[in-house]
Order: sequence, then C-alpha cells, then structure tokens
Amino acid sequence: MLNTFFPDMHSVLVFVLLSCFASICHTCNQLDKQALLSHSFIISSSSSTPLNWSSSIDCCLWDGITCDLHGRVTKLWLPFRGLRGSLSPSLANLSHLSHLNLSHNLLSGPLPNGLLSSFNHLTTLDLSFNCFSKELLSLPYSIQLVDLSSNCLSGKIQPSLVFGQARAPNLMYFNVSNNSFTGFFPLPSCNSFSLIKSLDFSVNCFTLKIPPGLGACSKLEVFRAGFNLLSGLLPFDIYNVTTLREISLPRNQLSGPIGDGIVQLSNLNTFEVYSNELNGEIPRDIGRLSSLEHLLLQSNNLRGNLPPSLMQCANLTTINIRNNFLEGDISALDFSKLQKLRTLDLGNNSLTGYFPLSLTSCTSLMTIRLDTNELEGQVLPDMVAMQYLSFLSLSANRLINITGAIRILTSCKNLSVAILGNNFIGEAMPDDGSILGSDGFQKLQVLGLGGCKLYGRVPAWIAKLRMLKVLDLSFNHLTGSIPSWFGNLPRLFCLDLSSNFFSGEFPQELCRLPTLSSRLDVPLVDIFMQPFNDYRLQYSGLTNVLPQINLRNNSLSGRIPLEIGKLILLHVLDLSLNNFSGSIPEQISNIRILEKLDLSNNHLSGEIPESLTSLHFLSSFSVANNNLQGQIPIGGQFDTFSSQSYEGNPQLCRPVLSSSCPSINRGNEQKIIQEEGGGFNIPWFHVTVGLGYATGFLVVCVTLLFQDSWRYAYFKFLSNMHDKVYVIVAVNMARLRRRLQR
Ligand SMILES: *[C@@H]1O[C@H](CO)[C@@H](O)[C@H](O)[C@H]1NC(C)=O
Ligand SMILES: *[C@@H]1O[C@H](CO)[C@@H](O)[C@H](O)[C@H]1NC(C)=O
Ligand SMILES: *[C@@H]1O[C@H](CO)[C@@H](O)[C@H](O)[C@H]1NC(C)=O
Ligand SMILES: *[C@@H]1O[C@H](CO)[C@@H](O)[C@H](O)[C@H]1NC(C)=O
Ligand SMILES: *[C@@H]1O[C@H](CO)[C@@H](O)[C@H](O)[C@H]1NC(C)=O
Ligand SMILES: *[C@@H]1O[C@H](CO)[C@@H](O)[C@H](O)[C@H]1NC(C)=O
Ligand SMILES: *[C@@H]1O[C@H](CO)[C@@H](O)[C@H](O)[C@H]1NC(C)=O
Ligand SMILES: *[C@@H]1O[C@H](CO)[C@@H](O)[C@H](O)[C@H]1NC(C)=O
Ligand SMILES: *[C@@H]1O[C@H](CO)[C@@H](O)[C@H](O)[C@H]1NC(C)=O
Ligand SMILES: *[C@@H]1O[C@H](CO)[C@@H](O)[C@H](O)[C@H]1NC(C)=O
Ligand SMILES: *[C@@H]1O[C@H](CO)[C@@H](O)[C@H](O)[C@H]1NC(C)=O
Ligand SMILES: *[C@@H]1O[C@H](CO)[C@@H](O)[C@H](O)[C@H]1NC(C)=O
Repeated sequence: MLNTFFPDMHSVLVFVLLSCFASICHTCNQLDKQALLSHSFIISSSSSTPLNWSSSIDCCLWDGITCDLHGRVTKLWLPFRGLRGSLSPSLANLSHLSHLNLSHNLLSGPLPNGLLSSFNHLTTLDLSFNCFSKELLSLPYSIQLVDLSSNCLSGKIQPSLVFGQARAPNLMYFNVSNNSFTGFFPLPSCNSFSLIKSLDFSVNCFTLKIPPGLGACSKLEVFRAGFNLLSGLLPFDIYNVTTLREISLPRNQLSGPIGDGIVQLSNLNTFEVYSNELNGEIPRDIGRLSSLEHLLLQSNNLRGNLPPSLMQCANLTTINIRNNFLEGDISALDFSKLQKLRTLDLGNNSLTGYFPLSLTSCTSLMTIRLDTNELEGQVLPDMVAMQYLSFLSLSANRLINITGAIRILTSCKNLSVAILGNNFIGEAMPDDGSILGSDGFQKLQVLGLGGCKLYGRVPAWIAKLRMLKVLDLSFNHLTGSIPSWFGNLPRLFCLDLSSNFFSGEFPQELCRLPTLSSRLDVPLVDIFMQPFNDYRLQYSGLTNVLPQINLRNNSLSGRIPLEIGKLILLHVLDLSLNNFSGSIPEQISNIRILEKLDLSNNHLSGEIPESLTSLHFLSSFSVANNNLQGQIPIGGQFDTFSSQSYEGNPQLCRPVLSSSCPSINRGNEQKIIQEEGGGFNIPWFHVTVGLGYATGFLVVCVTLLFQDSWRYAYFKFLSNMHDKVYVIVAVNMARLRRRLQR
C-alpha cells in the first residue's frame, strides 16, 4: 500500500514545487485576471510571438506578468511586443500594480481619465514610444518614474495636478520629451524633500519663460527642455542646484546672458544651449566647471573673448561655439591641457591670430572647425602629430601657402574631410606629383578648395585620392581641359568645377563615374553628420552635397554627350554659362532622380526633349539664353516652371499661350493643328500619309502638300504670317484632312 502511495505523493510535491518556482507560489487573483483579460490590446497583438495569455492558465504564469505572494499582479512588463490597441479602463482593477512597462509598442488612444491615479502602488510607469494621445491629467501618488516620452500627447500639463510635492512626493524621473504638449512650462513645485533627479521636457511646444522655482529641486541632476518655444532668460536659480550634471535647453528663443552663477555647478558635465538668442560674454570663470565635458553654445549672439580659464577644464571632449561673435587672438590660448578634446568648433566668429600651436598637442582631436574667422598664417607642420584628426575645416580665413598646407595635411593619416577654401587667394594650385608622398590622403573623402582664385590646372595627384567623394574646386582660375580620369574616381559623387576657366569638351569619361552610374550602395553623406548633435546639418564650405556635377561658368564647348544619361544617380546637373552647342540629349530623362537641371546661357539648339517631362523630381530647370526652338513640353514638372526658365530663346514657344509665340516652326504648327483641328495627332498623321500614298487620286493632294518642297514653302509661308492667319491655315488643313478621309 505504502509502496504504491509514495510515488504519487512524490510527484504531487514536485508539481507544487515547480509551480512555486514559476509563479512565486500563488495563483492569480481572479479580479486581476479579469482586468487583464478585458484588455483590448492583447487581442490585436501583431508581434511574431503572440502572448500566451490563455484564460485556462494561472495569469501569474503569463507573458510579462509578475505576481506577489498573494497572487496579485505587481508587474505588467511588455515592451517591444508589437501591441496594438488602447489601454482599457479595466486596468484600474490591478490595484497592486507597481511596475507598468508597455514601451515601444503601437498603442494609441487617450490615457483613460483617472486610470493612472487609481494605481495606489504604481512606482514605475513607462509608456514611451507609443502613440497615446490627448492630455496627461494626473499621476498616482506613489509614482517614482514616469516615462511618457515619444508619444502623441498634447494639451497643457497642470503642474499642480500632475506633480509636485503634494501630488507625487517620491517622483524622481519625469520624461515627457517628444510629444506635442503646449502652454506654460510645467514647473514642479520642489521643496527640500523633493527627490526629483531628472526632468525632460524637450521636443514639445511649451511657450513663454521658464519661471523660477527649479532652484528648489535640490537633487536635480538632469534638466532638459530643448526644442520648444521657450523665451526669456535662463532660469538662474538652477545655478544653485549644485547636483546638476546636465542642462540642455537648445533650440528655443532664450535670451540674455549665460550668467556668472553657472560656475557654481561643479558637477556640470553637459551645458547645451545652442540655437538660442543668448548674448553677453562667456563667464570668465567658466574654468571652475571642472567636470565639464560637453559645452555646446553654438548659434547664439555671444561676444567677447574665449575665456582662457576654459582651458583648465581638462575633461572637455566637445567645445562648440560656432556662429557667434567671439573675437580676440586665438593663438594666445593654451589648449594643451585638453587632452580629451575630440571636437573643437569655433567656426564663424571673428577670431584673429594664427592657428594655435598648442592645439596640435591635443592628440585626441578628431574634428577641428575654425572656418569663417580672421585667422592668418600657415598650416603648422606640427599638425602632423594629430593622427586622429579626421575633419578639418579652415575655410574662409586668410591662410597662405597652399602647397605647404597640402604637404603637411597629407601626413594626417586619418583625415577624411579637408575644407580649406576661401584662403590662399591667387596662389598656384600645387601640382607637384610627389606632394602626396607614398600614402598621403588615403582616407580623404572631401576636399574643398573653392574660392581661392588658384591658377594652374587640375593637379594629377587628385587622381590618386581613391576615397574622394566630394571635390570642390569652384571659383578658382584653373585652365585647361577637364581631366578624363575623374571618371575613374571610384567614389566621387559631387564634383564642383564651376566658375573656372576650363575649356574643351565635356569629357565622356565623366559619364562613367561609378558612384553615379551604378546602383552600388555607397553611403554618400555619412561623414557630415558625425561630429554634431544638432539636428541641423552644419557643413560649411560647400553649399550642398547632393550628388552633382557642376561645370557652370567655364568655357566648355562641344556637345553634351549622349552618355550623360548613364549618370542615373545624379541629382544636380549644372552646365550653364558655357559654350555648349548641339541639342539637349533626350537621354537626360534617364536620370530619374534629377532635381536640378541648368543648361542656361549656352548655344544649344533644337527642341527641348518631350521625355524630360518624365523627370518627376525636377524642381529647378533652366534653358534660358540658348537657341532652342519648338514647343516647350507640357505636363509633369514642366507645368510648374516659370517663363524665366525659357527666356532668351526667340524660337521657343509655350503651346498654351500660342499668341506669345514670336515666330512659328514645324513643332508649333503641329500643335496648333492638334488643338484647332479636332484631334489631328501626329503619329496618326504620319501613318495616314504612308498608307494613302498608293490608294488613289485624293491622296496625291496630301502627297503633294507634304512633299519636301511643299512643306518647306508652306512653313516659310507660315513663319511670315501673324498668329491669326496661321491659325486659320491650320484649320483649313484639318478640313482638308477630313475631306481626304471621306
Ligand atoms: C509564457 O511565456 C513566457 C516566456 O515568454 C514563459 O516564461 C511562460 O512560462 C509561458 N507561460 C505559459 C503558461 O506557457
Ligand atoms: C473592476 O472589477 C469589478 C468586478 O469585476 C467590475 O465590476 C468593475 O467594472 C471593474 N472596474 C473596471 C474599471 O473595469
Ligand atoms: C521598459 O522596458 C524597456 C525594454 O526592456 C527598457 O529599456 C526600459 O528601461 C524599461 N523601462 C523602465 C522604466 O525600466
Ligand atoms: C527621455 O526619453 C527619450 C526617448 O523618448 C530619451 O532619448 C531621453 O534620453 C530621455 N531623457 C532622459 C533625461 O532620460
Ligand atoms: C520621437 O517620437 C517618434 C514617434 O514615436 C519616434 O519615431 C522618434 O524616434 C522619436 N524621436 C526621438 C529623438 O526619440
Ligand atoms: C541661491 O542660494 C542662495 C543661498 O544658498 C540664495 O541666497 C540665493 O537667493 C539663491 N539664488 C537663487 C537665484 O535662488
Ligand atoms: C574627469 O574624468 C575622469 C574620468 O572620467 C574622472 O575620474 C574625473 O573625476 C573627472 N574630473 C573631474 C574634475 O570631474
Ligand atoms: C555665420 O553666422 C551667421 C549668424 O550667426 C549666419 O547667418 C551664417 O549663416 C553663418 N555662416 C556660416 C558659414 O556658418
Ligand atoms: C581613424 O578614424 C576612425 C573613425 O573615423 C577611427 O575609428 C580610428 O580609430 C581612427 N584611427 C586613428 C589612427 O586615429
Ligand atoms: C610653405 O610651406 C612649406 C611647408 O611648411 C614650407 O616649406 C615653405 O617654405 C612655405 N612657403 C612659404 C612661401 O612660406
Ligand atoms: C565666373 O567665374 C569667374 C572666375 O572664377 C568669376 O570671376 C566670375 O565671378 C564668375 N561669374 C559668375 C556669374 O559666376
Ligand atoms: C563658342 O564657340 C564658338 C564656336 O563653336 C566660338 O566661335 C566662340 O568664340 C565660342 N565662344 C566663347 C565665349 O567661348
């Protein structure tokens, strides 16, 4: 008896133990189970692994559910599950819920009124990356962490209802960034017991000023409210909050000075207030911010000198004060302590002096932008030490000795962007073949030497830059022909040779450019985004980096090669202000993504190919000042171009406004026939004549009429007539046709 009983007992025990491990031992509370089952989002789960929420199973064993010892659901944790639908009010019955994480799903609909505040035990609420809409009305008293970022929430946030010591005394982390909230800035009312550490209001539509009050949030570490419509002064009382590690308020309309008080923030790691209207000087003692790593002050109205004390902040990795009005001699600063500095951007100020020698000892530097200042002198031989340097922009200064500059920079082995234009005015283009050494510039992707009025020819060493993607030699005085080897540069996609004195023909080899003619997936503009955390692209030196060939304003002649149609990935083709002749190749219409086509101010003749109307991305088009004739195509983007695109072609005619045609030719005449004569379309006409030839008397009239001599006389006759007359002639022709058909 015992022998047979014990094994059974044993298995029962094992079963109970196993279920205890799986579910913390207690079966699910029925009320909680009902609340979960009435959830609308479970049903429409579209994730690859559906939720195993079967009503026949203990709900404490379900996906994403954790229960306490009494079988009450404490955690609902289902991020990244592809859940759709909305939150059901029945959730409110999960009265022991402490953690709710439904982030990164596709949930939508409003947050049910009162739902959140009904969770008496909720400490963690993460609904980020969904599209919950409408307002945020309240939070539970117990809440510690709120992440509602990246949703579709809108309306105002009433601080007195949502947070504050009386409402949510334990709140530590609050993130509503990337929504559409409006109205006043919702200031939490802090007191000495407040636990708030992190507040993120960025990327919303909050307006007006940040009122004082944050200064009382004595544990605040992170404060972000960038990308809003905030105005007024910086909230100076936060400079009393010495726990602050990050202040991030970019892209607002904040004005006034930065305030000397900021130097009290000895823990400040990130100070990010770019793209505002801040003015005044950078606090002289800013060097006391010894923890500072990221200083982003670009695009403000800051004046005065760069404070020497800043050079004491040895942990700095990023300094960006671009687009301000800084002045003073930059060579007087000693950068040598900034051994962690990776990005220095002081571009577009009024700094004077030489490139600072001490900067060359900052061996971590990857990005230097000192463009658009008043620097003079030469590129320093010591820059060879900067082996990490990958992005250098010194354009629009007063540097001299381009030969020296190139020779030195070729030794910066990691250099991928060198923008040096608008310097070296009137010097000779260095053409010494040995300038690169054996392995110089082997990572160079962008070379900007525009606007230097350099004379000479395109140097042959450029042919060795196998990584080159963007070459700007515009606004120089280069002569000779355009080298055919450009067509062999395997990555080149942006070639700007405009405003030089190049002569000769458009080299056919250019139409082979691998990056523009094949669908090989070469990433085009990756390098430009890297060093900046501004959403706006801040590339200076080239106006844009679209795939393009720009030969504007040279002395090129001959025909535009038919092979041009092979450059199927071209976005911009500018051949204006040259001496090109012949007709516009129809093949251009193969360049499906062409956005800009400028052929103006040449000697092109013939008609504008009808097929160009298939270029659906063409937004800028000009053939002005050529010898084109015939009718302007209609349809597609051509309906959007103004008459300026065509002016200066006396024989070109817009069919809709036939009265504005100064003269007529075959193309116009056929168009008029089509309109006045009731559907006399051209292919049909040719077929008719061809057929009619053999079949009898009446056809002879047609044949006669359209014999070469006749046609010639006819058109000559027409072109001497006024509009009305030739319209009548055309109608008569149509009548003739109808008679012939009968
Ligand atoms: C449901 O899936 C989770 C894992 O996603 C698993 O741990 C649990 O045992 C499953 N429950 C049931 C009843 O299958
Ligand atoms: C909570 O549960 C009770 C009992 O099942 C039910 O009557 C009530 O409607 C539920 N509340 C909500 C908000 O679903
Ligand atoms: C919610 O889950 C996601 C994904 O696991 C996680 O990254 C996030 O930190 C969680 N939220 C909280 C507040 O813990
Ligand atoms: C707030 O959430 C966003 C994602 O929506 C995240 O990028 C950001 O870092 C968060 N803010 C804080 C302070 O953690
Ligand atoms: C902002 O929210 C949208 C929609 O949820 C999301 O796609 C985007 O990645 C978010 N942006 C950031 C910076 O988190
Ligand atoms: C900063 O704190 C000091 C005392 O610690 C106080 O006198 C001052 O008013 C506070 N400043 C602001 C702007 O709140
Ligand atoms: C600088 O950074 C190092 C390493 O990250 C850290 O140990 C040190 O405390 C920092 N210095 C200051 C003054 O914050
Ligand atoms: C320089 O700054 C001014 C004003 O801040 C701005 O308008 C201009 O576009 C900037 N130029 C460059 C080259 O960044
Ligand atoms: C060169 O730059 C790349 C990134 O552009 C970086 O990963 C690499 O470490 C750098 N190498 C040297 C020697 O600086
Ligand atoms: C140009 O620079 C090179 C390299 O630094 C140097 O050898 C040469 O003397 C310089 N030329 C002038 C005219 O300064
Ligand atoms: C044409 O190029 C020359 C030489 O660079 C320049 O001086 C002139 O201003 C340019 N003209 C136009 C209209 O761009
Ligand atoms: C343009 O080419 C023609 C010959 O095709 C030549 O006579 C004329 O001088 C050239 N004009 C210019 C400005 O180069």
